[in-house]
Amino acid sequence: MNNVKKITENIIYVGAGDRGMKRFENVYPIPRGMAYNSYVISDDKIAIMDTIDSVLSDIYSDNLTEALNGRTPDYLIVHHMEPDHCYNIKRLVECYKDMKIVCTAKAEKMVGQFFGNMFDGRIIKVSEGDVLSLGKHSLRFILAPMVHWPEVMYSYEESEKVLFSADAFGAFGANDGNLLLSEVGLNDEVISEYRRYYSNICGRFGVQVNNSLKKIAEFDIKYVCPLHGHIIDTGFDILTDKYTGWATYTAEENSVLIIYGSMHGNTENAANYLSYVLGGMGCKNIRVYDASSIHYSYIISDCFKYKNIVFMAPTYNNSIYFPVKTVIDDLKHLGLQNRNVSIVENGSWSFGAGKQMKEELDTCKNINYVGDIVKITSVLNDDSKSALDVLADNIAENVKNNL
Ligand code: FEO
Repeated sequence: MNNVKKITENIIYVGAGDRGMKRFENVYPIPRGMAYNSYVISDDKIAIMDTIDSVLSDIYSDNLTEALNGRTPDYLIVHHMEPDHCYNIKRLVECYKDMKIVCTAKAEKMVGQFFGNMFDGRIIKVSEGDVLSLGKHSLRFILAPMVHWPEVMYSYEESEKVLFSADAFGAFGANDGNLLLSEVGLNDEVISEYRRYYSNICGRFGVQVNNSLKKIAEFDIKYVCPLHGHIIDTGFDILTDKYTGWATYTAEENSVLIIYGSMHGNTENAANYLSYVLGGMGCKNIRVYDASSIHYSYIISDCFKYKNIVFMAPTYNNSIYFPVKTVIDDLKHLGLQNRNVSIVENGSWSFGAGKQMKEELDTCKNINYVGDIVKITSVLNDDSKSALDVLADNIAENVKNNL
């Protein structure tokens, strides 16, 4: 059963959604599935824009057959060589004997890594600014290294003002009958899945993302066709602003995110206490996460959103209780910057998590510590409540000063 959709008269969507997969990249929960996008541009020459994940190969074949309408493709444009987009290359190359693969030099090397030498003689290497004419349509190639792999490129189709953006401007979630972003709207729920996708997949590469944004700023863009998520036909200016903020590690929400780990409920109790004190001091939109209960990708996403972050963890095996340690480790690797951070630790017979959390976070740039490390001995008592009151005062003052 095919499922194609025209975006314009000559650009056809041939991707598909997967709702059976539990985790994208076997890491990130995708409760609303995942879209794998591919497109056909039909002109004097025909170009297929990337392929899709192997689990969707059959429907992809049906979609292509429908979109090609008896013609054979001349080019397969490979913007990105990660397997969720490249596994069907082999099938297409075997099926369409005269089709050429168009990709960067770095992608060519990866083609060899994934598929051996079966594509020899069929690759056209392109560089920054090269143009491939299809007839009335032409594709200008824009290198976007490390967004988020080294071989990545975008392409811009000038006649219909379409940007093919690889993983950039992608999101988690299948397209539930609404392929265009204008059909669902750029609401908070939709933006949160753009943010979760960006922060976890591309978050480490802010500099490179920014470089690519500067390159595409000169183009008049009507549609953005990413490899995941909706086709962006509205709100691209809003999403570009979001991307610029995320890529420069600029917080969006001047409020407080509390991330805690709790083995027996006592650190959780302290997190709740702190959150209500902060709420009583006028802080709005506070968010509290139990790092053991929610997948860290959601927490990472909100770390890219919130200006003030409080980490609260017991000492465990002379280290940081690992659900919280996992979040901090990932933030380090993603290179989060420019945050106000507070630390609370709990210990019954040993401390150390607080100092270690600070040492880990010291490796991130421009971290401003708010308040002293608060120590809780087993359970909240008058002393630790007072210390949390002082900490809340410091955090609330910070929030006020950032307004
Ligand atoms: Fe969707 Fe980086 O692959």
